[in-house]
Amino acid sequence: MRPVSGNGKFSAELVKRVEALWERYPDRKAALLPALHLIQKERDGWLSDETIRDAAELFDVPDMHIKGIVGFYDMFHGQPVGRHVVRLCKTLSCKLRGADELRAHVREKYGVLNGETTADGRFTFKCFECLGHCEVAPMMLVDEEKHTELTTDKLDAVLEALA
Ligand code: FES
Repeated sequence: MRPVSGNGKFSAELVKRVEALWERYPDRKAALLPALHLIQKERDGWLSDETIRDAAELFDVPDMHIKGIVGFYDMFHGQPVGRHVVRLCKTLSCKLRGADELRAHVREKYGVLNGETTADGRFTFKCFECLGHCEVAPMMLVDEEKHTELTTDKLDAVLEALA
């Protein structure tokens, strides 16, 4: 196994944090998911093919292994995203409490469909399956912060407060 020293492709701070993760898992590969979150943050919120190659080299795994993870998990982005990622829940509880109307509002006011980024680069909207807060539906995650019992006015207020 390669010594713990990074591969020169990531910041020293990130490598330090990945190394700390490696200490907590039975093997390095097991730390890939939390490490990819850190890497994604460092690389402008998405994982390009080049970043995937760099991460594969750091973890000593084939590129395809990481590509599979990025393709499978919605929290990872294989394409550039806006400054903020807005995840709108579309599952039953949220749907019964207005998720469809919120999506229609996003389409009209922000001019984007599922997976698209606003023209000003501020927001990428994504429809998501249940985000685990059905009791306060409808809800959305903006980056990592949850917003509940949404109305169109509340959604706008949350987004307007962000740069
Ligand atoms: Fe939306 Fe569960 S259905 S949070």
